Amino acid sequence: MLRNVAKRSFGKLPIRGYSTASQDLKKTALYDFHLSQGAQMVPYAGWSMPVKYASLGVLQSHLHTRENASIFDVSHMLQTRLTGKDRVQFIENLVVGDIQSLPLGHSTLSVFTNERGGIIDDTIICQQDDSLYIVSNAGCADKDLKHIRQHLEAFQNQGGEAELKIIDDHSLLAIQGPKAAAALQELVDADLSKMNFMTGKMISIKGIDCHVARSGYTGEDGFEISIPTPEVTRIAELLLSNPNVEMAGLGARDSLRLEAGLCLYGNDLNEDITPIEAGLTWTIGKRRRAEGGFLGAEYILPQIKNGVEKRRVGLIVEGAPARENCEVYNADGEKIGTTTSGVPSPSLKKNVAMAYVKSGFHKSNTELLVKVRNRMQKALVTKMPFVPSNYYKV
Ligand SMILES: *[C@@H]1O[C@H](CO)[C@@H](O)[C@H](O)[C@H]1NC(C)=O
Repeated sequence: MLRNVAKRSFGKLPIRGYSTASQDLKKTALYDFHLSQGAQMVPYAGWSMPVKYASLGVLQSHLHTRENASIFDVSHMLQTRLTGKDRVQFIENLVVGDIQSLPLGHSTLSVFTNERGGIIDDTIICQQDDSLYIVSNAGCADKDLKHIRQHLEAFQNQGGEAELKIIDDHSLLAIQGPKAAAALQELVDADLSKMNFMTGKMISIKGIDCHVARSGYTGEDGFEISIPTPEVTRIAELLLSNPNVEMAGLGARDSLRLEAGLCLYGNDLNEDITPIEAGLTWTIGKRRRAEGGFLGAEYILPQIKNGVEKRRVGLIVEGAPARENCEVYNADGEKIGTTTSGVPSPSLKKNVAMAYVKSGFHKSNTELLVKVRNRMQKALVTKMPFVPSNYYKV
């Protein structure tokens, strides 16, 4: 199955049969570099992105990341900067996180919500001394910008001081895996051993000023590096010259993040799912729970107290792997949910999936059934992450 990964959809975007004319696809600054590395390119969120490289199959690339380190081009993601003295007050209208209490140099996962409490996008927000640095999903870039700008205009009209800037002159590379830190350390003077997970700072990489954040989407230790675009190929080459480092594409990224229990927007999160249903209650700061003041708070906050009708769960599925949109049944044959993502887990050699199921059937070790190609297969509700995370702690 893994060999057919290129035919699968990523975030509901059809990969089979290039539905978007390839000349319409955007290219990252590393496009030619990807081709030189034997990348197989696929359309993804309006971009032409590598799904895998000639050196390793998707399965091997996944295992390589868990044991060594891999570089992912994530330049398609939207990088923005919010400045102005009221920037924190402004962003807290749109996200559920306690951004005010986020220490300097720290980042957090948060979500943009709509008026109904649904998730517009998930995002990483980093507290910098003069601004908030915000990274969000490529597939949501247009609607995120429209949403932020619309609310920003109203905020400014009421005298609020905040400005949004798209960071379009920087590319974004992720290096992920237990050997990522050693590989990056060879290129910098800063002592990376003093840098905790979810912190970031400006670091010179061989003389190039980059924003280095200790974060990622694989469950491993690693970094996301915002690099002036003219230098991104050089830095990718420098990192790749380490014998423990390989390039990796969307194929491995999807199985890695799923094993790590991390959501993919468009599959596991959408505008009809609240952060409580998604199991992201932890992203709502204590002060925000007390005060509200973000879009949809009147729907979201009562759900913390009163519970929800559906919940995101992890499943280990017997038999053929369940992908997204498979029906989930309880032992009595009642349909109680739907899968939103699924892969054969390369690390566990079992099929893992995420699903939304009716509350009551969400507890670990609940035995359910998943319909895969018209066959009912046993599935066990399993705590996520499926594979233990290895985030770095000083
Ligand atoms: C990790 O890297 C080493 C050295 O390059 C290599 O021999 C090994 O096969 C890699 N492990 C995996 C799982 O790819």
